[in-house]
Amino acid sequence: MKNIIFATHNEDKMKEIREIMKDLQYRILSLKDIGLKQDVIENGESFEDNAILKAKAFMDITGEIVLADDSGLEVDFLDKAPGIYSARFLGEDTSYSIKNQYIIDKLKHTKGDDRSARFVCAVACAFPSNEIIVKRGVIEGVIANEIMGSNGFGYDPIFYVPSFKCTTAQMDIEIKNKISHRALALTEIKKVLLKR
Ligand code: IMP
Repeated sequence: MKNIIFATHNEDKMKEIREIMKDLQYRILSLKDIGLKQDVIENGESFEDNAILKAKAFMDITGEIVLADDSGLEVDFLDKAPGIYSARFLGEDTSYSIKNQYIIDKLKHTKGDDRSARFVCAVACAFPSNEIIVKRGVIEGVIANEIMGSNGFGYDPIFYVPSFKCTTAQMDIEIKNKISHRALALTEIKKVLLKR
């Protein structure tokens, strides 16, 4: 069985990707599984750039097929911030209760469509042949009026999905993992891998 490495140190992401990729004829390994501790500097200008940078760097190191992702929250009223800077927004060590309250406060005089936002995820797949494919997954929503829910992580407590009438932090984790930006992008990558 061939290996696919998913370039992350995040075990929650690994659970999600193993679930989505379980019917592929590949062994899915994390960086931890192969004993790599390195990180790649994400200095691209888009989610796609950063995902490609990571996938390519770890493919060069391992010689295996490597998947990597980059994701974040785009708030239209804030000119799509925090976007690719989602993790670093207001400082890497600032708590998400502060980041989330900051966004809510910034939008306090807005309503309806002015509160539109989306989670975006780009997943890149780098092959040892140097071929690279990249796919984007998006989930649309609005910024909630207050912090709601305790599941998930990051910006989940302020990301309200109208069709589910709740934030992604109030959603069952299994449901979020099915409809998430990451799941959508990974599913597209999986379709490509299944054809090979
Ligand atoms: P990365 O793709 O691991 O670099 O994540 C970037 C950042 O985007 C995370 O640290 C979160 O702040 C945010 N983010 C990405 N996906 C999600 C999500 O599903 N829920 C909440 N926040 C997210």
